[in-house]
Amino acid sequence: MCLGTKYVCVTAENEYGEVPMHLATPAGAVRFPLVLGGGCAIQRPVSKLFRLGVLGSGQGSNFVAIAEAIAAGKIPAEVALVLSDVESSGILTQARQRGIPASYLPPGKFRTKLEEDAERSLVAQLQAAEVDLVLLAGFMRVLKGDFLKAFEGRIVNIHPSLLPCFPGLHAWKQALDYGVKVTGCTVHFVDAGIDSGAIIGQQTVPVLDRDTPESLHLRIHQAEHELYPRCVAALARGEISVQGRLVLWNAPAPK
Ligand code: GRF
Repeated sequence: MCLGTKYVCVTAENEYGEVPMHLATPAGAVRFPLVLGGGCAIQRPVSKLFRLGVLGSGQGSNFVAIAEAIAAGKIPAEVALVLSDVESSGILTQARQRGIPASYLPPGKFRTKLEEDAERSLVAQLQAAEVDLVLLAGFMRVLKGDFLKAFEGRIVNIHPSLLPCFPGLHAWKQALDYGVKVTGCTVHFVDAGIDSGAIIGQQTVPVLDRDTPESLHLRIHQAEHELYPRCVAALARGEISVQGRLVLWNAPAPK
């Protein structure tokens, strides 16, 4: 399968002998976006831009950083859809202000995950929007099997620590309480675990003696706004390849 600015094709193996992301075994080597190979089953027009779906629950500052990087020509992609489980969230307001389709996704009765119907609707909306890559930007619900299967290898998250340290909630406070001298943020692929997928990129942030949880969180947030657009740009340009847990940068651009 190849994704991105040229074609989308589904094929068992591409010309590099690599397996498409959604067909990849843990040991398989995959390129992202996947490269044109023989025997394509699905094709898209040459003109189609790499399409992003963004999920968030909060203020949406990472979404804004990505939208601004796209507007500045730094990411060859477009945001096709923004969805939030919080009707009054800043991320929906920010998207609508930019004329980007944005919808509230009623999450159902659970607090930390989506109800089954909601998750089905999420998948359907992202598929209808022909999203190539799903970006989690402060989405506060655990996503389950059907969603992960539908977008396998095409879901990315940003986390406010240097993973694998301090997964889960309030990672900046965990770092401060532990007494580390350096923390940061991580962009990673999403798998079935909590903040456990293959690491795409990381940016360090020093922990200062005078830091409070708030001051440290603020500096991590600033680092996120540099790291996330950089990683998304590399993904959209096809500069990322994946071998098991190893994510390699500067892969040769897709033909
Ligand atoms: C960020 O700190 C991100 O690391 C975490 O959620 C927060 C989202 O912030 N996953 P924002 O809504 O993008 O401002």
